[in-house]
Amino acid sequence: MTRYAFSFLLATLAVLSRASPLDSTQIALTGGDTVHTTDDWGYTDCGLPTDPIQITSIVVTPDPPQPGKNMTVKVKATAIERVEEGAYADVTVKLGLIKLLHKQFDLCEEARNADTDVKCPVEPGDYEVEQTVELPKEIPKAKFVVNVRGYTADDDDLVCLDLRVNFMKRPFFKSLGF
Ligand SMILES: *[C@@H]1O[C@H](CO)[C@@H](O)[C@H](O)[C@H]1NC(C)=O
Repeated sequence: MTRYAFSFLLATLAVLSRASPLDSTQIALTGGDTVHTTDDWGYTDCGLPTDPIQITSIVVTPDPPQPGKNMTVKVKATAIERVEEGAYADVTVKLGLIKLLHKQFDLCEEARNADTDVKCPVEPGDYEVEQTVELPKEIPKAKFVVNVRGYTADDDDLVCLDLRVNFMKRPFFKSLGF
């Protein structure tokens, strides 16, 4: 499952880089379970304990993410129910209060395209997915919010994740080597 979360995020990034003049919106990453919350990024697991996909943890390296550098995101999740073909997610990306993107993703399709080894149907079990993306140097100095609402093929809740990344105080000087 994790892979799904991942796939959405990656897909979000990909879509943003295609669709938005701010191709830097990439943000994404980092989400979780109300567990990790710093000024730089955080995530909230807005799902129910009965949702088929339970996010266990999301770790971002480096932390905080650095524009112009590779970011590795490791997501651990547990599928407590089988996830069938047809599962999908509505993803909304906001820059501050501005909605940049609202798109529905076919999760199984994204998983296949993301070259992960998780394939639908996904059997119950623990999953760990690690993906690396290169963050553009020109990411807007702003706060990004990514809302992920996943649903099963039958339109039942699947997973719910809210992510936020704050590039407002990104370390310009540090990245310049000072
Ligand atoms: C990110 O990782 C890829 C693949 O390992 C590498 O080719 C690329 O140079 C890296 N980019 C940066 C900015 O480190």
